Amino acid sequence: MIKFSAVDFQKKIYLDGFSGKVSTVSPHFETLEQAAIAKMNTKAAAYIVGGAGNQQTILANRQGFEKWRIVPRMLRNVSESDTSVNLLGHQLPSPLLLAPVGVAEMVHKEADLATARAAKATQTPFIFSNQASVPMEAAAAEMGDSLRFFQLYWSKSRDLVTSLVHRAEACGCKAIVLTLDTTMLGWRTKDLEIGHLPFMEGKGIAQYTSDPVFQKLMDESLKEVSDIKPNLTLSAIEGLIKATQNYPVGGFFQKLKSGRPMAAVKLFTSLYTNPALTWADLAFLREITTLPIFLKGILHPDDARQALDHGMNGIVVSNHGGRQVDGSIGSFEALPKVVEAVAGRVPILLDSGIRGGADMFMALAMGARAVCIGRPYIYGLALNGQRGIEAVIKHFMADFELTMRLAGCKSVSEINPDMLVKTK
Ligand code: FNR
Repeated sequence: MIKFSAVDFQKKIYLDGFSGKVSTVSPHFETLEQAAIAKMNTKAAAYIVGGAGNQQTILANRQGFEKWRIVPRMLRNVSESDTSVNLLGHQLPSPLLLAPVGVAEMVHKEADLATARAAKATQTPFIFSNQASVPMEAAAAEMGDSLRFFQLYWSKSRDLVTSLVHRAEACGCKAIVLTLDTTMLGWRTKDLEIGHLPFMEGKGIAQYTSDPVFQKLMDESLKEVSDIKPNLTLSAIEGLIKATQNYPVGGFFQKLKSGRPMAAVKLFTSLYTNPALTWADLAFLREITTLPIFLKGILHPDDARQALDHGMNGIVVSNHGGRQVDGSIGSFEALPKVVEAVAGRVPILLDSGIRGGADMFMALAMGARAVCIGRPYIYGLALNGQRGIEAVIKHFMADFELTMRLAGCKSVSEINPDMLVKTK
């Protein structure tokens, strides 16, 4: 396993600073976010940073942590430490994973490839997004045998679901993470304000355009493409050009003439969400794969119990980074009851609003096995590609290690609920 020492890393940062070298990727979250926003265009900033409605859930995700405080313990010999955790038999150097984030190409041209390389370099598991900017096979090819999972959106086509899951197995993903909270898009006011959805420009649909079942469905749907008649404004033409450029196979004019780029966008928008899903559908997924399945988006303890009843192997407590239901419970607030319901039977991951080592510590103290980060690493990507993501990951790892040791814990197993106190 990777040898990472927070103290050595910290020392290096100070030594670099002494010789006048300071990283553009700030370890302080607010500075990191502001710097990344300054580098993004309006559309990217709206899509990446924004949440649902009045952004109350983004706030709740932070407020959840703010209600609690860590109570550090003293004189416990923390000269040595071990931040590793075990997840489904895989040993992770730190309780940290990279959440699935779609359309990373909006902030950096290397998108998921940069993330895959950074994940490998830091041995941080990477959950490939169903809305990635590159096919999963290409991201997997960057990772050797580093740990990756595939996040699935259950579309209206079971054949497509099967194909995606089998591709994930074939390219070495070790679990399927089924996201449940996006059976339709949330009311994302920042995107709505500018009337922009990246998928319409053919961005974030690489898992689909690279899929044989999707291509076949497209052949069948091509006849209907002539039905799309957007007002041919300059902006619509620009969108058409972008969708054509973003379509993977063939030269520009060949693609334009074939009608496939727009057919892909149209088919994708008609297929990708499935509001009809119910618990009964999980049996189908269980049947088509032997991989462990995590359910992402669980916030209610009864849903956690149902997940176990349906043979699921893990839970991701998440509200999608506040992008789906405005006014939702913060993910950290939801964690204790889910932990109680699960009673240690499967691992629980937590995401949404994790902004530093203290949040990781609190999540673990409350019973999560590990956490996932979304926006923070995308900000690193925006600022400095692969290196930017590596910097963000190392900042989280170092902050967590120091928090853990300074709180008096030598290893993750010593972190427990008694180390937290509720203040509000
Ligand atoms: C996401 N998220 C997400 N989740 C998922 O299951 N599939 C996806 O394709 C995406 N795409 C996506 C895009 C963007 C721009 C963001 C910010 C988020 C949600 C993601 O996996 C995770 O739940 C949140 O990002 C965690 O919250 P923070 O760390 O961003 O606050």
